[in-house]
Amino acid sequence: TDHFHMRDGALYAEDVALSDIAQRFGTPCYVYSRATLERHYRAFDEALASVPHQVCFAVKANSNLAVLGVLAKLGSGFDIVSGGELRRVLAAGGDPSKVVFSGVGKTADELRFALEQRVGTFNVESESELRRLDQLAQAAGTRASIALRVNPDVDAKTHPYISTGLKQNKFGVDLVTAERLYVEAQSMKGIHISGIASHIGSQLLDVSPYLDALDRVLTLVDRLAAKGIEFDHLDVGGGLGVRYRDEIPTEPADWAKAFLPKLAGRRFKIMTEPGRAIAGNAGVLLMRVELIKRGEAKHFAVVDAAMNDLLRPSLYQAWMDIVPLRENRTASVQNYDVVGPVCETGDWLGKDRELAIAEGDLLAVRTAGAYGFVMASNYNTRGRAAEVMVDGDRAVLVRARETFDDLVRGERLLES
Ligand code: LLP
Repeated sequence: TDHFHMRDGALYAEDVALSDIAQRFGTPCYVYSRATLERHYRAFDEALASVPHQVCFAVKANSNLAVLGVLAKLGSGFDIVSGGELRRVLAAGGDPSKVVFSGVGKTADELRFALEQRVGTFNVESESELRRLDQLAQAAGTRASIALRVNPDVDAKTHPYISTGLKQNKFGVDLVTAERLYVEAQSMKGIHISGIASHIGSQLLDVSPYLDALDRVLTLVDRLAAKGIEFDHLDVGGGLGVRYRDEIPTEPADWAKAFLPKLAGRRFKIMTEPGRAIAGNAGVLLMRVELIKRGEAKHFAVVDAAMNDLLRPSLYQAWMDIVPLRENRTASVQNYDVVGPVCETGDWLGKDRELAIAEGDLLAVRTAGAYGFVMASNYNTRGRAAEVMVDGDRAVLVRARETFDDLVRGERLLES
């Protein structure tokens, strides 16, 4: 559930009409609801209330400073995958001790910076990374707290591009390697073993892959306990799905109820890294119908947002709901492909949509708060969209639309 709703025939975010936001800030424009972000964060926090825990929002899903700031105020930790994301967390007032640093390709500079900032945990994804981190920590006169991200080789049954827990995926280390590396890490002077982590994929609707992954992880935990290696925390990853169309995702409370019994009698702190489930339906993308083009085979609604603003339909053939901001009583319902102006056949936001619309009408793509703006590009020299946060009856511009000067900053002509 979210705080976007119809009121007097118009779509609202909390107490603000989305059409007012479009008028004030222009389109395309991402709009986030603070109350929705808070509700979703609390849903995870409360689901895990019976055990020591830390919810670490996956910054990659939505890294706007205002979004991170709202979550930081609630006590959220953060799952980051780059030095840039760490800087964002710090700029938003996040607590570095509640940061988990994931990612298969952390550079030495990023590791050094994260050590300096005293990041809580490094989720290490390879043997080379472990050795590199050990050396860098020793050089810095410190110890890095680590978890190995293990790859439990389970099928998360999601889109192949967002499935990460299979042997053929690049993420994590397999269980056998993990066992050996934990034993070796025990004698590394720059390493403190804190936990064990796994993340098997994204947009998971069902808990069973989680449970399978957890069983495999716990088997390894027990084997390591027999070798005297104990863990302070267990990171179950992120990945809970949201409803885009008619999916029925597992609620955080039910997800926790399903796996917590497996952890009875164990003393670790539980960490989780949700991104989409917190930010997904806390955001919409507003856009305007520029023109309607009736072809022989198809009708097209050409809108002012495009694949550079919202890549998910093009990249994953993702179905995302497209709704008018208010009903157009004079237009008749027709079947449209909703497309952007970018010069690519793959530039579409929705196909075969029954819509009653006319040129100039405003539309919203629902559930665009995760993996929306963050995946935007400047392709076709299009400035990235504005971002607005609604908080009750306030609408605050939290990122200005990019200008031409923003786009060419750093470029120069040859002198002759
Ligand atoms: N932790 C790790 C290590 C991850 O790789 C990810 C997402 C998350 C947590 C957060 O997963 P979530 O709770 O958001 O499912 N761009 C794609 C999704 C890519 C997900 C990448 N990793 C999309 O738009 O569907």
